[in-house]
Amino acid sequence: MNKNIIFIICVLFVACGQKKTNEIPAEKAIVSGAEWLDTDGNRINAHGGGILYHGGTYYWYGEYKGDSTYWNPKVPSWECYRTEAGGVSVYSSTNLADWKFEGLALPSEQNDTTSELHYAHVLERPKVLYNEATGKFVMWLHVDSHDYAKAAAGVAVSDSPAGPFEYLGSFRPNGQMSRDMTLFKDDDGKAYQVYSSEENQTLYISLLTDDYLQPAGTFTRNFIGLSREAPAVFKRNDKYYILSSGCTAWDPNQAEVAIADSMLGEWTILGNPCSGPDADKTFYGQSTHVLKVEGKEDAYIAMFDRWNKTDLIDSRYLWLPIKFEGEKMEIPWQESWIISETFK
Ligand code: DGJ
Repeated sequence: MNKNIIFIICVLFVACGQKKTNEIPAEKAIVSGAEWLDTDGNRINAHGGGILYHGGTYYWYGEYKGDSTYWNPKVPSWECYRTEAGGVSVYSSTNLADWKFEGLALPSEQNDTTSELHYAHVLERPKVLYNEATGKFVMWLHVDSHDYAKAAAGVAVSDSPAGPFEYLGSFRPNGQMSRDMTLFKDDDGKAYQVYSSEENQTLYISLLTDDYLQPAGTFTRNFIGLSREAPAVFKRNDKYYILSSGCTAWDPNQAEVAIADSMLGEWTILGNPCSGPDADKTFYGQSTHVLKVEGKEDAYIAMFDRWNKTDLIDSRYLWLPIKFEGEKMEIPWQESWIISETFK
């Protein structure tokens, strides 16, 4: 073959190869209730979780559920399905669609049955904040006994967002029961724990000490007797919002949102923000966190768990963009959506 022809074929070959490697992979859609895989192809195991944005990366912390689910007959008043507690997992992402498993930020204890972190106990709804003053990452989570009677909050700290976290112990904040919970950090650096208390009937909002390790002693009782669980808090245009669920064990119920001018209240109930099919059942999900998307205008994602009570590890995730009209918010059902197309 003529040398020139061989040269042209080689150039075309290299150019074609080049085009392939330069192709930008299509952005992953957020698909409600599908099986979500991490970057290693394993099922994401981060339930009842929350997300911390730090140094350009999102860290998703959640309950690392064990493989098998069993029913605890010693708790006859509700369907107490349980799984072995694996501890708190952490995944990282820069685009909210591709998640890398970073390991167990706080592993459960495998041998010492007296440890609060023993896998037979309950470790739920972990949330992490970064404390600028101490330079520590602070985790709070619901720590409970096998039968949910302990009703306490546990605290752990780390120098790094991916852990490992050092467990400091648990207590009943402000001397009151604490089960479902979240954390919220305000723009002024003050942080709050929001927790279902008084047998899940009343939602407490408790200011934390400046190091975020203890309640500061100032707290309010909210939605008294209304049994709100699964609180998720965010701030928008100087208004505070709490999204929460009712209290029906692992079964879905109607979500509710409330608004206030101050974290400690008074709170005004706005009603059910969900719309579309099964909106009265929160699309068969339960709130866990509301995420503000960094660098995008007015971009908030409501995160829900869709529990599978008889196979808890196979519980799925629903993440839905929130729409606002003035102070009112709406969470319309979406089967699937793309972050960059939704938020500008
Ligand atoms: C509802 C809570 O929101 C969950 O975190 C979990 O504790 C279940 N109850 C247990 O039934």
